Amino acid sequence: MNKSIEQIRTEALSEIEKADNIDQVNAVSTRFIGRKGIVTQYLRDVAKLPAQERPEAGKKANQTKKAIEMAVNSAISRFSSSPKEISDAIDVSLPGRFFPRGTIHPITRITRRICDIFERMGFDIGEGPEVETDYYNFEALNIPKNHPARDMQDTFYISENIVLRTHTSPIQIRFMESHTPPVRIIAPGKVYRCDSDLTHTPMFHQVEGLLVDENISFGDLKGILTLFVQQIFDDKTALRFRPSFFPFTEPSAEVDIACVICRGEGCKVCSGTGWLEVLGCGMVHPAVFENVGYDTAKYSGFAFGMGVERIAMLKYGINDLRMFFESDIRFLRQF
Ligand code: PHE
Repeated sequence: MNKSIEQIRTEALSEIEKADNIDQVNAVSTRFIGRKGIVTQYLRDVAKLPAQERPEAGKKANQTKKAIEMAVNSAISRFSSSPKEISDAIDVSLPGRFFPRGTIHPITRITRRICDIFERMGFDIGEGPEVETDYYNFEALNIPKNHPARDMQDTFYISENIVLRTHTSPIQIRFMESHTPPVRIIAPGKVYRCDSDLTHTPMFHQVEGLLVDENISFGDLKGILTLFVQQIFDDKTALRFRPSFFPFTEPSAEVDIACVICRGEGCKVCSGTGWLEVLGCGMVHPAVFENVGYDTAKYSGFAFGMGVERIAMLKYGINDLRMFFESDIRFLRQF
């Protein structure tokens, strides 16, 4: 400590006084009160003084540091632009810049809505891989190799035993393998089929459902699906169950709703029939239960499956499925 703190202070203040611009002010600030500055160092040295000198020396050094800080700050504001100068440089009457806001994709929106409705009826969400084994996608679902039922779904084969899942039904097999009844799940997700035209894309979305318990009948299936249809469309929507075939359900049915456009009168959208197909369903085939080790004497259940795009097209009156995947902002913004 060769210079007195008073000398240091006088020197610092006069240098700040003489500075011509912000850079010079900052340089003085660093030199005196920066991390390795003269005053900073001085403050550290105070600790080494005899105990009785410390309080007085520390106090003076701190006052010096404060005085330099204040001088630095006022010098900086002296060199900075005044608010007036800033407002002259900026046209405050210009409108602000808007950041475009994203929206939820209509397919995500409808998937969430479908899941919501079933969750409120006590269903849990199940998940599974999109790249599946032949066993989970077909065989466990009572679709043997080389069986004509395989033609119902045009499959992308990765190798002889690995496929891109053609439906989310394999999720249900996986779930049943690891849980005992009662089971109440829905399985949303992407599925893949080798198909492409106005109403088919190679990738699309499904929500399937499965309920297994004692004494489950086709009446329960009708009740749950009627509630669902009336909630996703509206409570006046008429529906009918039409006999159909799926290898994994027996009996099987297809659910039609009264045409959303003509309300059943018959129009172009429903090809004059007054009805639109919305989902497939049925009572789980005993062979499927046997594959997962469920007691067919004790348990029965139903399953159903629907295409999310199809529901979205009917709900929003969209006639070209491909629009969902073209990422045209003008289309997506409308939902
Ligand atoms: N998995 C069937 C499909 O994708 C749909 C379905 C599920 C039908 C459950 C009946 C029961 O075509």
